[in-house]
Amino acid sequence: MSEIFPSIFESDFYINEMIKIWDEGNKWAQWLDEVSKKYNLNKKVLDVPCGIGRISYFLSKLGYDITGVDISEKMIKMAKNNIPSGKFYRADMRYISEILEKEKFDLVINIFNSLGYFSDEEDFEILKSLREVTNKIAVINMDNRDYIIYNRPEKYYTFIPPNYLVEDNTNFDPMTSRLRIKRIYKDQKGNELGKIEYSQRFYSLHEIVKMINKAGFKILDVVSGYSWKKFEVTDPQMTIIAGV
Ligand SMILES: C[S@@+](CC[C@H](N)C(=O)[O-])C[C@H]1O[C@@H](n2cnc3c(N)ncnc32)[C@H](O)[C@@H]1O
Repeated sequence: MSEIFPSIFESDFYINEMIKIWDEGNKWAQWLDEVSKKYNLNKKVLDVPCGIGRISYFLSKLGYDITGVDISEKMIKMAKNNIPSGKFYRADMRYISEILEKEKFDLVINIFNSLGYFSDEEDFEILKSLREVTNKIAVINMDNRDYIIYNRPEKYYTFIPPNYLVEDNTNFDPMTSRLRIKRIYKDQKGNELGKIEYSQRFYSLHEIVKMINKAGFKILDVVSGYSWKKFEVTDPQMTIIAGV
C-alpha cells in the first residue's frame, strides 16, 4: 500500500491545496464535455479518484450523472456535500470493480496525478481496474516525467490561501523515476506548521502507454492538459484518451 496513505490525503493542508485549484475543475469539465460529444458518450461519469469533487461538480452542472470514488474519508465527505445528486464511495481504486459490481461507465476519468503513489505493478492493477468499469472512454491525466526532470526546481514555494506557504524540496531518482518530495507547510513568518514526505513515480508517455495498452485499452489520442493540442515531450502534462 502507498507509503503516504492515509496521512496526506486526510490532511487539511492537502485538502486546501485541492480547494486552491477548484476553479480549474470548470476548465476540465468543459473539455471533458467536448470529449464526450466527440466520442458520442452518454452522460454517466465515473470520477476516480474524485478528491473533493472539483471536476465532477462542474460536470454535474452540465447535466452529468456522477459516481465518485476516493480513498480519503474527508475528501469523499466534501465531494458528497459539493454534489448532493452524486453517488460516492470511499474505496481503494485498485478494487473499484468490486465496489461497483457490474456497473460500467461511458466515461471514466483519472485526472491530476492520481497514479504513481504505488509501485508500477500496483499502478498497472489500477489501470486494469479502470478498464473493467469503462464502457467506452477513459481519460487519464498526469504530469510528464520528461518535463519534470528538466524543469522542476529542487526547491520551490507555493502560496496556499488563506495564509500559508508550501516549501517543496524535491529530489528525482533516475533509477526509479520517483520524485521524493519533502513538503513543509509554513506560516507567513516562516514558522513550520507541518510537513509531509512522500515519493511519486512519474512516467514518460511511452511507459504509461505500454501499461494502458496492456490493461486492455486502445490509445485514441494524447493531448496536452485539458486542450486539443497534441502532446509533445516538452509539455508539462499528458492527457491520454483511451478507448476499449
Ligand atoms: C492529486 S488528487 C486528485 C483528485 C482529483 N482527481 C482532482 O483532480 O481533483 C489524488 C487523489 O487520489 C486519492 N487516492 C490516492 N490513493 C488512492 C487509492 N488507492 N484509491 C482511491 N483514491 C486514492 C487521494 O485521496 C486524492 O484525493
